[in-house]
Amino acid sequence: MKHHYDTVIIGSGLAGLRAAAEASEHGSVAVLTKLYPTRSHSTAAQGGIGAALGNEEPDSPEWHFYDTAKGSDFLGDQDAIEVMCEDAIRTIVELEHLGVPFSRTSEGKIAQRRFGGHTRDFGKAAVRRACYSADRTGHAILFALFEQSELQGVNFFPEFHVLDIVIENERCLGVIALEISSGEIHTFSAKATLIASGGYGKVFRTTSNAYASTGDCLSILFNAGIPLEDMEFFQFHPTGLYGPGILITEGARGEGGILINAKGERFMERYAPAIKDLAPRDMVSRAVMTEVREGRGINGRDYVYLDLRQVPEEVIKERLPEISTFCKIYLGIDPSGKPIPVLPTAHYAMGGIPTDVDGRVLKDERGSVIHGLYAAGEAACVSVHGANRLGCNSLLDTVVFGRRAGMAINSDLRNTEKGSIPQSMIDKAGDEIDSLKNRTGDEQAGTVRNELQSAMTDKCSVFRTEQDLSDLAGKINELKEKSKKIELKDKGKIFNTELLEAIELDHLINLAGAITHSALQRRESRGAHFREDFSERDDRKWLKHTFVFKTDDRLEFKYKPVTITQFQPEERKY
Ligand code: FUM
Repeated sequence: MKHHYDTVIIGSGLAGLRAAAEASEHGSVAVLTKLYPTRSHSTAAQGGIGAALGNEEPDSPEWHFYDTAKGSDFLGDQDAIEVMCEDAIRTIVELEHLGVPFSRTSEGKIAQRRFGGHTRDFGKAAVRRACYSADRTGHAILFALFEQSELQGVNFFPEFHVLDIVIENERCLGVIALEISSGEIHTFSAKATLIASGGYGKVFRTTSNAYASTGDCLSILFNAGIPLEDMEFFQFHPTGLYGPGILITEGARGEGGILINAKGERFMERYAPAIKDLAPRDMVSRAVMTEVREGRGINGRDYVYLDLRQVPEEVIKERLPEISTFCKIYLGIDPSGKPIPVLPTAHYAMGGIPTDVDGRVLKDERGSVIHGLYAAGEAACVSVHGANRLGCNSLLDTVVFGRRAGMAINSDLRNTEKGSIPQSMIDKAGDEIDSLKNRTGDEQAGTVRNELQSAMTDKCSVFRTEQDLSDLAGKINELKEKSKKIELKDKGKIFNTELLEAIELDHLINLAGAITHSALQRRESRGAHFREDFSERDDRKWLKHTFVFKTDDRLEFKYKPVTITQFQPEERKY
């Protein structure tokens, strides 16, 4: 079936929905999602959205800007960071007007809590900057934006799995997708295509990410010759629930929770004496892993405790209901009476599809764009987060840059002719599905995926070395070969989830290669990328963004200078 829209958006999380609301003011919009819109991973965001409202204590967008640049280990582009932090207050007011039920102070203002790396007076002390809706902030915003998109006549295509993003002569023509319920191929020709499909945390074994976070669109573009930026920077959130890796919000520490080791020590006092448990995530994750490695994990095991016993019970009930439920369901623990076992969990991709500050996708490190192609949210790399994202800046990023991409689409559409997807591309997508179904061999997608995720977690997480990364690169090649021997048992068309798993696995392997090789190249430590064999940050050689290109199954690396406007790199002390 062939569809024609002015704009097609892949992904129905916050970035996609905010862009949809904007673009639908000036043209027809289709939103494709492989889930149902309100099941998008944005709904899992818990603790808050950052904005220097100053509702609870003095704050300023300039302090927010400084914290974000410093939190990024000075790899974030400061023109983009400034745009985000300056637009934050307007963004919160807008969300409030759309009906987001933010938690309140006793005076009825939007309440704000502390979050890692957010400070007042350029690093003097932690500040309350995260606006929140208990610990279901992403959920609250997602529902408000979904209602808004429906009101504006956005057309939703749930359970559509993207097979290809069609680019011809440096212009994007739209999307080819599989309708999961029927197995039919649909085309969506559009003047503008926005990728807002989220992250790819499923490349790791232990992750806070949803099953759907497999980075399909990034991988499709990578195969089509579009570079990926800063893929070596993957954030590990320090407090994943031990075992399943589910997020236990940083808001828990914002409300007074502390991390303790086997000796009952509040160990963050040693690593970040000024802001302790509210240091940026890269530092806290390294601290947790160091405690574990040095034998101070609880009972000598590989976890520490997040202790909320000193947080008043009514605060836990009112502001942290979601994580309390997770603790009860998964570990049988009531966090007001017992400490929570936690360990870092793969949480957020700082790297992604390179864009300008208006979401236009860059095709090289020099800033040339692909016409009609946009990206926003976690799928994109603007780059506001650099080497390490601060908590509560991702929801802000999605809404600010989703809106800006929508506005750019509106202004660019005026000068764009309608294109249409050539039949040869549709036939190619069909042939690829047939070839997957006809593969023979004795491998299964689930088994190969588990091997990949374990290898990535074991060799490319909080601490990295040349040896581990080289071994991992070899392992990924081996898994690529294995994946060619996956034989599908289900040859049917209707809800063929086995086929979808095989497609997703190819994407995960592709992205794992980009992460691993980018990490091998970067011989320094910065933000979330910590090389034990090059343990210092090296601004002389490495104050630059990585652009990795895939050419004829080989990877090629180019680099782009970081935009520094206001804050020169400094030592990162907290
Ligand atoms: O800890 C959290 O609530 C996560 C928030 C975020 O990733 O921004």
